[in-house]
Amino acid sequence: MCAAAYLLGSISSAILVCRLFGYPDPRTQGSSNPGATNVLRIGGKPAAALTLLGDVLKGTVPVLVAYGLGLSATAAALVGFCAFLGHLFPVFFQFRGGKGVATAFGLLFPLHWPSGLVAGAVWLLVFGVTRISSVASLLAFVAAPISLWFWLPTAFWPMAALTVIMVIRHRANLTKLLSGEELGFRGKR
Ligand code: G3P
Repeated sequence: MCAAAYLLGSISSAILVCRLFGYPDPRTQGSSNPGATNVLRIGGKPAAALTLLGDVLKGTVPVLVAYGLGLSATAAALVGFCAFLGHLFPVFFQFRGGKGVATAFGLLFPLHWPSGLVAGAVWLLVFGVTRISSVASLLAFVAAPISLWFWLPTAFWPMAALTVIMVIRHRANLTKLLSGEELGFRGKR
């Protein structure tokens, strides 16, 4: 199941949607990230919405299947984690993938919906204040393992590992934040 989840995660919605809409490869424009935020900058709302849907489902489907087969929360979290890794290091796209935020939300909600709501609320709150997707995403996924620690501790470690990798993956965003050059969701500072 981990291998199947990794392969599903490796299907880059952003790259495929940009090809479909005739937009440039998102890895060459804006923040260079193949994700919904960058597709919104490059293309527009329909392409970004389709990208978001595809990336969310890559996390949701493997966790639902894992739970459906009777696997534990720890195992379901590991399966979701493999989908997240596929998104970051896609075998079908030269291992140059995204930052995994939408896929992480997609796996967190079916894994433990109250923690999904906590992370979603943090994202909305922080984005509402800062209008910067990366800040909202990072704080949401700091909140996610903390929430699991209290409510579903057996899924804590896979989610904590996901958060650490997500933070590392955002290192360029963090550098730009510190220098005041981070892009907003419309491509402006
Ligand atoms: O969804 C990824 C987000 O956290 C940052 O995206 O394109 O601003 O680097 P971007």
